[in-house]
Amino acid sequence: MDGDLIRLVNRLQETFSNLGGELDMPQLVVVGSQSAGKSSVLETIVGRDFLPRGSGIVTRRPLVLQLIHTPAPEDSASPMEWGQFMHVDKRFTDFNDIRKEIEQETFRVAGQNKGISKLAIFLKIYSPNVLDLTLVDLPGLTKIPVGDQPGDIEKQIRSLVSDYISNPNSVILAVSAANIDLANSEALKLARAVDPQGRRTIGVLTKLDLMDAGTNASDILTGRVYPLKLGFIGVVCRSQADINSERSMAEAREKEADFFRTHAAYRNISHKNGTAYLARTLNQVLLSHIRDKLPDMKARLNTLMGQAQQELASFGDSAGIGDENQKSALILHLMTQFARDFVASIEGTNMDIS
Ligand code: GDP
Ligand code: NA
Ligand code: MG
Repeated sequence: MDGDLIRLVNRLQETFSNLGGELDMPQLVVVGSQSAGKSSVLETIVGRDFLPRGSGIVTRRPLVLQLIHTPAPEDSASPMEWGQFMHVDKRFTDFNDIRKEIEQETFRVAGQNKGISKLAIFLKIYSPNVLDLTLVDLPGLTKIPVGDQPGDIEKQIRSLVSDYISNPNSVILAVSAANIDLANSEALKLARAVDPQGRRTIGVLTKLDLMDAGTNASDILTGRVYPLKLGFIGVVCRSQADINSERSMAEAREKEADFFRTHAAYRNISHKNGTAYLARTLNQVLLSHIRDKLPDMKARLNTLMGQAQQELASFGDSAGIGDENQKSALILHLMTQFARDFVASIEGTNMDIS
């Protein structure tokens, strides 16, 4: 994630928690048909390789992934990043083990045979490279029951997905595969049901590399097919062959960038597509969310400043320099001053730090 945004959000969250408030960030929820590439897209946003992916039904329980910013450790012996599940008391420093644990925990509750469970897996990832954000990976939409799935599997998954995306604090990543007609996109249908104006939905078009020769998705990517305020962003994630051969995330990103730069239909729009651009767009969405919260925070700030001023006035000049009350009042005063300047500086920027 963008380092500037991480710093900005951390500073804001610190300031607001000093003020006794809270800056709640939105949660990002991926929706789409089975194998559209939801888990792949989420991984590229986090920048780490740790989610089970694959053709067929892999994600069978919701995964609520909480990213938690932690400062980099001072001694090099301590781990930089680690994962912690709610269901097991253990620190996971190897991201491959995180994937295995998700798989095992999926089997444990949702069974061996393609069953789906509404019970979420809760995972926290602590890292200096993330900002406090919640991401939700969901089972894909399917129509025909297989294995142990009940007859009304379609309805069950729909209601599960709707539960998460109807929350107005959710930003919806509506993932559709480019090699399937957009008119059939379950992701867009579901997103539209809860966000009819398309205000908090980002269209993500995966598998551009798998389209039939001679066809392309430039009409969709330039917004001429389906209107979304936040637009459509095309990405190329790792193929199954890439996963099998353990192609690294960095390598995959390079290959993706090449794809857009050299493709006749996408050359001119390559700067508005790809994983890196998706990440920047998300940053913008998060920033405007923060901006929406500022009026509340300013009101809280004004109240606190009024209180601090009263307290300071009540001490007068007589108190000694070591007086604890005076010290704390002074700290409160400085803190509110800082917060006020800080909010003002945020409001003054155009928020475009990408
Ligand atoms: P999910 O079921 O929606 O979570 O989809 P996954 O992320 O598990 O991906 C399903 C399969 O599609 C995996 O084998 C991925 O490697 C593959 N895949 C995802 N995105 C792309 C893409 O952009 N291009 C190619 N070639 N394969 C992709
Ligand atoms: Na899949
Ligand atoms: Mg998945």
